[in-house]
Parts: sequence; C-alpha cells; structure tokens
Amino acid sequence: MPVLDRPRYDGHAEWYDEWSSEAASQHGRIVSALLGPGTGRCLDLGCGTGRYLDVLRSTGRTVVGIDISADQLRVARRRTRALIRGDAARLPFADGTFETVVATWVSTDVDDFRGTVGEVARVLVPGGLFLFYGVHPCFNGPFVEWADDERRIIHPTYRRAGWHERAPWWNGGGIRDRVGMRHVPLADLVNAIIAARLSIARVAEPDRDAWGMSHPGPAQPSPGKTAPRFRVCLPCSPIDPRSRVEAPELRWRLWRSSRMF
Ligand SMILES: C[S@@+](CC[C@H](N)C(=O)[O-])C[C@H]1O[C@@H](n2cnc3c(N)ncnc32)[C@H](O)[C@@H]1O
Repeated sequence: MPVLDRPRYDGHAEWYDEWSSEAASQHGRIVSALLGPGTGRCLDLGCGTGRYLDVLRSTGRTVVGIDISADQLRVARRRTRALIRGDAARLPFADGTFETVVATWVSTDVDDFRGTVGEVARVLVPGGLFLFYGVHPCFNGPFVEWADDERRIIHPTYRRAGWHERAPWWNGGGIRDRVGMRHVPLADLVNAIIAARLSIARVAEPDRDAWGMSHPGPAQPSPGKTAPRFRVCLPCSPIDPRSRVEAPELRWRLWRSSRMF
C-alpha cells in the first residue's frame, strides 16, 4: 500500500455521507439498543461525517467526535461543534476521560487497530464501556466473494492482514474501491482486546432479521465456481442492553450481513 499524504477519507466526505445514510439509520437503532441509556462523556471514535451522533446523544450521553479526516469532520460539523481532529491510536485526551467510547465501522480503516483499542482502554474511566460495532472480520473483506444467491466464498486472502487496495469482487460502487480496506483477522482483533485488558461483556452476530432484511436462501451449488466455499451460518442473538460491570467492558457487535463494505 503506498504511503498517503492525506487521510484516506479526505475527498470522499460528501459522497460517503450520502452513501451511508440509509444504512446508518438502520444500524443506528441497533447501536442504540446495544448501548442502552447512559450519562457522562461519550467519544464517537472515527466519527466520520457524524451519522451516529444523534443516536449516541439520544441515549443521554454527551458526545464528542474524533476523526483523522478533516473532510469528514467538515461534514460532521453540520451536525455538531463537538469535534476534534486526531488519531485514534494517539488520542488527545487524559486517562479516564470518557464513560463511554463507541466505534462504528472503524476496524477496517485505522492503520493501527491494536494501538487504537489500547487508547480506548486508556481514556475510559474504570467501569467504562466500549461499544465496538463493525464488520465481521471472517465474512467481510477483500477475501470475500459474494455469490449471486448471497452465499459468501471465503478466499485464502483472509490470511493477508493489513491494507488491501483492491479485490477482484469489489464492484466499483462502494467505499472500498475508493479507500481500500485494512483487514484485521479475527485473532488480531480479539488479541487487541485482550492486550488492552478490556473484559468482553457481550458479543453479537445477529442475523439480518435484526434490521428487517430477509434471510438468504439455502446454499445451492454454484455451477462453474471452483473455489472452496463456506456457507455462513451463525446464530442470531436477541438485542438487549446489559447492565454495567465494574471493569472496563466492551460490547462488541460483529455485523455479518451488511453489504455496505
Ligand atoms: C467507515 S468510516 C466510519 C465513519 C463513522 N464511524 C460511521 O460509521 O459513519 C471510518 C472512519 O474512520 C476514520 N479514521 C481512519 N483512521 C483513523 C484514525 N487513525 N483516527 C481517527 N479516525 C480514523 C476515517 O477518516 C473514517 O471517517
């Protein structure tokens, strides 16, 4: 991946805001349910154009957004003035500043995921809450080929952690064709959480029914396709906010069904 002279999302903000609008309203309802009501300061980490700011505020929290892209923040400024430009892996806040940190769709975009999670743990108060909401690293990424019947074919590229600028199945219409994607395999993702000494309070891998989409049909043979394929079949989880625990905790949602990315 070439070294960039500016944040990847610069120059895409207007497009991104429009493109992510509908999905953000659907996911926003789930983010709100996972988060539950609360008080105190909440950091929207990698806030982008601020599509989730209203949802976070509606839970009762006081929200501050941070993002590395000045262009994304320019659009976010239409929604709030409480914004800071900065790097998620070097947060410009003192230890224990926030009761809550929320990150929506950022594991695919930060250069240093482990450093980012470490910083989240540092800026959380004891007993604070980190809600991580993002793509499922096993079923979204440059290694995933979507079949016409919505099955996903997992290619060996899964093993290639790091930045991917293109994949044969990115079709030109989405964000990944524009900015690429940093693939964080599942083990790296979980180990980042362990290294940050966050205790996992809940992991959800819900079905698309959670936001009103239909199930894909049963797996059928795909004539002409020779690559190994894997039918995703994960259990659904009901969504209900948990009570807080004393150690910093993480509510973790892996979204497996969105076509967003
Ligand atoms: C897929 S967008 C998600 C934006 C927003 N959270 C949302 O859900 O609409 C990823 C965001 O992460 C931001 N980002 C990438 N690297 C970052 C970093 N090191 N520090 C802060 N933000 C970063 C990007 O600029 C972009 O706005």
